[in-house]
Amino acid sequence: RLHNGEAIPEWFTFPDVVKILRERHPANARQGLALFFTGLSGSGKSTLAQAVVARLLETSSRPVTVLDGDEVRRHLSKGLGFSREDRDANITRIGFVASEVVRHGGVVICAPIAPYANARTEARQLVEAHGRFVEIHVSTPLEICEARDRKGLYAAARAGKIKGFTGIDDPYETPVTPELRIDTSQVSVADAANKVFEWLQAQALA
Ligand code: PPS
Repeated sequence: RLHNGEAIPEWFTFPDVVKILRERHPANARQGLALFFTGLSGSGKSTLAQAVVARLLETSSRPVTVLDGDEVRRHLSKGLGFSREDRDANITRIGFVASEVVRHGGVVICAPIAPYANARTEARQLVEAHGRFVEIHVSTPLEICEARDRKGLYAAARAGKIKGFTGIDDPYETPVTPELRIDTSQVSVADAANKVFEWLQAQALA
């Protein structure tokens, strides 16, 4: 019998029982959740992700893991470049770590560019094996991202000093059916974070 007294049918195999014990353990009473922000460089992914993390920490004691694009590349994906192959490897790694967090009932926030739809789908599938995956397309238009150019990378890409820069001479495949789409040139960071948070609450995810 489980901790809640529920009987396990005797024909269940050992792996079935382990799976049930994991799922029903009180520590996993809340389903794991991955918020996957995707969008161009300078679209506001990290800023919005940080504001959402702050809202989550204010309202819940659940620990939150953050896998931000730049930080991931300094550690988990150190040594990878920006070819399609390396970008896909980066997103698969993020998806794998996210799926581990979600498997243990945690909340994980990811904020890579993730320009390729296939890689995003793979990350979704890894996570959805254990919990919820919410894709948030930060859809700020290229002109605005380029005008912001906080890191000077767009100017460098236009000058040909950086090759294969997303949005300039490398593709960004727009998500077709993300759970949420937010253009940070149309709303303030606080309003955008509220929108995400309200959506999560409506889904009983926050
Ligand atoms: S990806 O495509 O998802 O693997 O990219 P990601 O890991 O999010 O890394 C994006 C950040 O790397 C910097 N950078 C580039 N971005 C796009 N294209 C090229 N060629 C490139 N070279 C360096 C850039 O600062 C991105 O940071 P963000 O935070 O998105 O602005």
